[in-house]
Amino acid sequence: MRLRNIPIADEKIASSPFCIHDPEQYKGSWDRLFHNNNPIHIEIGMGKGRFLLQLAQKNTDINYIGIEKYTSVLFRAIQKLEHMEDDKIPSNLKLLCMDAENLTNVFAQDDISKIYLNFSDPWPKKRHARRRLTSEQFLCIYDQILNKNGTLEFKTDNHSLFEFSLEELTASHWNVDACTYDLHHDPILCQSNVMTEYEEKFSSIGNPIHKLIASKHAK
Ligand SMILES: C[S@@+](CC[C@H](N)C(=O)[O-])C[C@H]1O[C@@H](n2cnc3c(N)ncnc32)[C@H](O)[C@@H]1O
Repeated sequence: MRLRNIPIADEKIASSPFCIHDPEQYKGSWDRLFHNNNPIHIEIGMGKGRFLLQLAQKNTDINYIGIEKYTSVLFRAIQKLEHMEDDKIPSNLKLLCMDAENLTNVFAQDDISKIYLNFSDPWPKKRHARRRLTSEQFLCIYDQILNKNGTLEFKTDNHSLFEFSLEELTASHWNVDACTYDLHHDPILCQSNVMTEYEEKFSSIGNPIHKLIASKHAK
């Protein structure tokens, strides 16, 4: 998702209480931001943030960080929070504008309990494979920030990207703990499913949604 450039987005992000500023200062001690030791779950490429917003409202004992590369997209997530009534805004949700390439600058080993990747950009050209958020290069980054029971949850309607992701996980010695090619008809995995914006769009035109849950091997 790349929205047209929004000139005031940078300014809005810099002054928003929903966004994390100078995230490097919290590396290894995120309790200083959230004022508790609850587990932290992140979504990389959160888009407009509907998925994490729902999770944060539902699970108040988990801290959520939505990570998004483009200011114009994050701006829309901020607007969504700003338009909510004060008592509906979850204090356990924060937004962070950054490229996932730099995650190890802001998170230490064990900082994160779960990573969500939802409808990540497919980068279909082979020469762009490294940019896919489930490439071996990104899995290596995730390995450096997840705790020992940490999990990665990935949803997409893109069959080639899903197959690529399974191959990269295997090559990188991750365990694939659950896998379905039709999430919405999977009696177990669909039970607690929270739809993302893209998931709603693609499932409404009949695309089956694929999902996998993976974890690192014990260190
Ligand atoms: C196709 S959208 C999906 C949005 C949302 N997760 C959903 O399912 O509705 C993918 C999002 O990932 C973001 N993104 C892509 N590469 C990224 C990266 N390296 N770091 C952070 N965000 C990234 C894009 O800007 C875009 O907003």
